Amino acid sequence: MGAYFRNDGTRIGNPVTLKEDTLKEDIYILGIESSCDDTSAAVLRNGELLSNVTASQQVHFDYGGVVPELASRAHQQNVVPVVDQAIKRAGISSQQLSAIAFTRGPGLMGSLLVGVSFAKGLALSLGIPLIDVNHLQGHVMAHFIREPEMESTPPPYPFLCLLVSGGNSQIVKVNAYNDMEILGQTIDDAAGEAIDKCSKVMGLGYPGGPIIDRLARKGNPHAYKFAEPHIAGLDYSFSGLKTSFLYSMQKWTANEPDFIEKHKEDIAASLEWTIVDILMKKLNKAVVQTKIKHVAVAGGVSANNGLRNAFHEYAEKYGWTIYIPKFSYTTDNAAMIGIVGYYKYLDHEWCDIDKAAFAKTVI
Ligand code: KG4
Repeated sequence: MGAYFRNDGTRIGNPVTLKEDTLKEDIYILGIESSCDDTSAAVLRNGELLSNVTASQQVHFDYGGVVPELASRAHQQNVVPVVDQAIKRAGISSQQLSAIAFTRGPGLMGSLLVGVSFAKGLALSLGIPLIDVNHLQGHVMAHFIREPEMESTPPPYPFLCLLVSGGNSQIVKVNAYNDMEILGQTIDDAAGEAIDKCSKVMGLGYPGGPIIDRLARKGNPHAYKFAEPHIAGLDYSFSGLKTSFLYSMQKWTANEPDFIEKHKEDIAASLEWTIVDILMKKLNKAVVQTKIKHVAVAGGVSANNGLRNAFHEYAEKYGWTIYIPKFSYTTDNAAMIGIVGYYKYLDHEWCDIDKAAFAKTVI
């Protein structure tokens, strides 16, 4: 096992055959993302986005978090219609696809297996190469997604990227699309996970991030103080903040049962301010250490208004050039998988058919 072959016996992934075949033609990449609870498919032509279709799963709402078994079942239901829609909206036929890029990991294993197996089956049936993409690399590279008739200025290499999602909080030095260094990362919970757990303590819905964001807009960020960690270097920690938040809520509601309901806007604003402050102080430390002033943000938490505002403030104060993604590219999407797939296609970086999904990794 290892390589795989077309019907005529030529190896899929043979650089010479592909180069001659394809350099004159447009390159169409189908991206597939299924690492957590969003089933997404996108089509790109020569690195430009033609379609991006995402089916989000509402089934987890009542459970206050993603239920892995339910997520993989929903992916099974969604993957065919989502891919079909993405190809139709791109205005092409599946026969025109040059390659299929898919999220290989990290993520929930059951969810990944649906996308990985589907991508393999479709690539084999169409006789085109497979390209594996790291989900985290995809988030960082969301800054390079180009849309027709839209001005976009991607960050120049090297740049720093604050990658903040439900599962990760990292400061990444990006030297090239395929050369990334993690300068610092959380030693326990991710920022998004901390926001979601604190929101659960407050009795708010799931996911907590957007709800906290909305409430925080109307609250006083300095109404309450929560513990900030003291971790050496460029690493993060959010578990202490989570505990401090829980104990504060328990103490305040013991005396006044409806304390959270009465003060939820100030609580949300203070929590958000603390998390943003922790993230930005370390990021600034990384800028000072590396002397790299092109600074990007990526991942689900980069949708947060408080964090976006802080980026603008730091840019003004410290002379950073900042890169903030469109809201639609902050959370999980296949466009970011497709753009990495496009760069890997240009470098003839194929994935053999026997490569398995992986649940955990670093970039
Ligand atoms: O990147 P993502 O969609 O999924 C992965 O974890 O890979 O990130 C999801 C996280 C959740 O924790 C969610 O609460 C958070 O991003 N999030 C936000 C906002 N929108 C999503 N956090 C703060 N403010 C938001 N507006």
